[in-house]
Amino acid sequence: MPRQQFYSRLKRIKIHDKVFKPYLSEGKIQAAIEAVAQKLHHQYIGKQPVFIGVLNGSFYFAADLLKRIDFECEVSFVKVASYQGTKSTGNVRQLIGLDQRIQDRHVIVIEDIVDTGNTIEAVTEQINNMGAKSIAVTTLLFKPEVYEKQVPIDYPAIEISPEFVVGYGLDYDGLGRNLNEIYILSEEQSIKENKEMLNIVLFGPPGAGKGTQAVKLKEEYNLTHLSTGDILRNEIKNDSELGAKAKAFMDKGELVPDELVIDMIEKCLQKYSDSKGFIFDGFPRTTEQARALDSLLQKYDTEIDTMLSLEVDDEELVARIVQRGRDSGREDDKNESVIFNRIITYNKKTAPLKNYYSEQDKYHSINGVGDVEDVFGRLKTSIEELNSN
Ligand code: AP5
Ligand code: MG
Repeated sequence: MPRQQFYSRLKRIKIHDKVFKPYLSEGKIQAAIEAVAQKLHHQYIGKQPVFIGVLNGSFYFAADLLKRIDFECEVSFVKVASYQGTKSTGNVRQLIGLDQRIQDRHVIVIEDIVDTGNTIEAVTEQINNMGAKSIAVTTLLFKPEVYEKQVPIDYPAIEISPEFVVGYGLDYDGLGRNLNEIYILSEEQSIKENKEMLNIVLFGPPGAGKGTQAVKLKEEYNLTHLSTGDILRNEIKNDSELGAKAKAFMDKGELVPDELVIDMIEKCLQKYSDSKGFIFDGFPRTTEQARALDSLLQKYDTEIDTMLSLEVDDEELVARIVQRGRDSGREDDKNESVIFNRIITYNKKTAPLKNYYSEQDKYHSINGVGDVEDVFGRLKTSIEELNSN
């Protein structure tokens, strides 16, 4: 299996060393197959033809085509063995596995792709020699610009330019046959590293479990965890200028001014620019911050893939924070009015970001109540689903 990439929105995929991008959608492929099936219906109804699929590549096309054939027919598959013949015969293509009597039968050869036509020429020649009454060729993909042979390609489903494609039965060095769409080699091979980044906004009110889950996600997906709260507490610990400015706000449960936080994140992105992706925990917290993050990421040719919003009711939030205040002693966990102010600030200034990401189709609500492992499982499921969208 090619490793499924997180870069699902643009749907670039990587197979071996190469990056491919979507070319023919499932819908387009199926519509083209439907059109071929209808033509075959008019031509072959009542003639009981024999379909011969050429393996391996044609298995997908053959299956989808034959599902649509509603008249009597027989179906068989062959392989073409290719080996170096004598000097005079050159490269020999030998049909193997044909267990069907085709003398005096109408034969329709099913191919996945026809380019120069060497294979289809060899196949049709041998079927002809076996006494078929008629031979027609259908192929999912046909590259007319490079076709060199005389054999007519009677029912091409889709004509394409001579580029390298993969998927829907076609492989690149053994991989990619099981993709439901057809992909083409992407010209943007060089930016693949950034495009493979997975960037998550881990969202939620104070005490929702952002920090707890971020640590686990970081391990699971090999990401860089950026918690603005942790960074700011570290600045306070180190008596830095930034720490001193931030402390006044944090002690009250207010937000630290946007420009300070944005500047801090910008430095982090620079520092970890070779990262596989980021988990933003506690950032962004305002629309201003979200906009700034989008444009910062753009500079690195990447973007937020998903916003995972942990939902926990207020009562549970307060209980968790109060408990932590007793256990570990984070300054802002110790005073109930500060805890409440953090929650109020979240509802007023931060929660509206759900709309911001919703408009970009990136907002995902996750139930944050229950075992830490269960919540983690929900987050992972949501992330894995990014691949299939
Ligand atoms: P920040 O550090 O981000 O704190 P917070 O948003 O208030 O959130 P917490 O860290 O308290 O909660 P969490 O969601 O990470 O939950 P955790 O995993 O710890 O911000 C602090 C301050 O810094 C802000 O008030 C602001 O002043 C400033 N600041 C930070 N970022 C800023 C920004 N971008 N802009 C402006 N100002 C900014 O879990 C909480 C507790 O619950 C833990 O004890 C944990 O063990 C427990 N727990 C976790 N999961 C579960 C579970 N499933 N079941 C039971 N208990 C659980
Ligand atoms: Mg936290």
